[in-house]
Amino acid sequence: MRSTTAAVDPSFLGSATSFSAAWGHKFPVINLQPVKLVGKRLTVACATPPSSFGRRALIYIATTSFLMPSPSFASATDENALLQEEIGKVLSKGRAAGLLRLVFHDAGTFDDGDKTGGMNGSIIYELDRPENRGLEKSLKILEKAKVQVDAVQPVSWADLIAMAGAEAVSICGGPKIPVQLGRLDATVPDPVGKLPEETLVAATMKQVFQKKGFSTQELVALSGAHTLGTKGFGSPTVFDNSYYKILLEKPWSASGGMSDMIGLPSDRSLGEDDECIKWISKYADDQNLFFEDFKNVYVKLVNSGAKWRSM
Ligand code: HEM
Repeated sequence: MRSTTAAVDPSFLGSATSFSAAWGHKFPVINLQPVKLVGKRLTVACATPPSSFGRRALIYIATTSFLMPSPSFASATDENALLQEEIGKVLSKGRAAGLLRLVFHDAGTFDDGDKTGGMNGSIIYELDRPENRGLEKSLKILEKAKVQVDAVQPVSWADLIAMAGAEAVSICGGPKIPVQLGRLDATVPDPVGKLPEETLVAATMKQVFQKKGFSTQELVALSGAHTLGTKGFGSPTVFDNSYYKILLEKPWSASGGMSDMIGLPSDRSLGEDDECIKWISKYADDQNLFFEDFKNVYVKLVNSGAKWRSM
């Protein structure tokens, strides 16, 4: 991996404020520290990632990408391959659930009414929100890939997260999902309170998802992502249709043992709704159908509210 440096006037880059003003970008109300300079040159990306990955580093990497030389790629296939390669180096089955959750927490803020939120990388500004607890770890993992990709061609957080989620599904045995690249990152956080709470009942969940442009079938298909992770829907690292089989079995109804730990209240409530049960049953019976529908709704999710660079 080659090292890339950009000669810049250090005083210009002394603070995020002057940097943003000069570039005409708005930055979030986060107090950024002056970036570290190496002599008179700023190392914007290198083979060795910055020694400490913190929230400021995430935002630093997002902003310094603007300084990168931007060689045009021979093809979108090359760009895809580069991203897949670097994500592959940091991805493991154990990390897959966290990375897939990251996708929903970035894209799931989309509001189809006022067109705010969506897949725009704004999650890097939203890590303090209670619903995003635990996601910083997944972002730090991806940050290592971002540094490497940025050294060749800048990538947006939105593209990186969208692609990482697809790779996470695939590595765990789920469908291969094609992800189009070219999303632009937001420079401010999305409005608050847009992600569904785990205490919601199915009727409200359906309304919440409808406001994001998703049908009941799509809500049920997307929720199958909970087959990964620690909520007790089969193996935490295998992407299959266990989620639906277990929703139909309702093990939490049995008293005793660990069975009452299985599933979130929102998951369980899908299993109480007639319209949802129709789709839960179909996906429990037919894993191929679940994979096909999940693939399609994942593509829709990662394109929600996305702004695209001009080719
Ligand atoms: C339908 C509304 C949803 C609600 C209320 C919800 C809520 C939650 C909650 C509370 C957790 C547990 C977090 C923790 O253990 O700290 C979780 C885990 C997870 N969520 Fe969701 N989620 C929803 C939809 C989705 C969607 C659409 C996706 C992805 C497409 C997704 C992906 C995940 C994954 C993969 C995990 C496991 C994370 C891990 O174990 O590390 N969720 N979700």
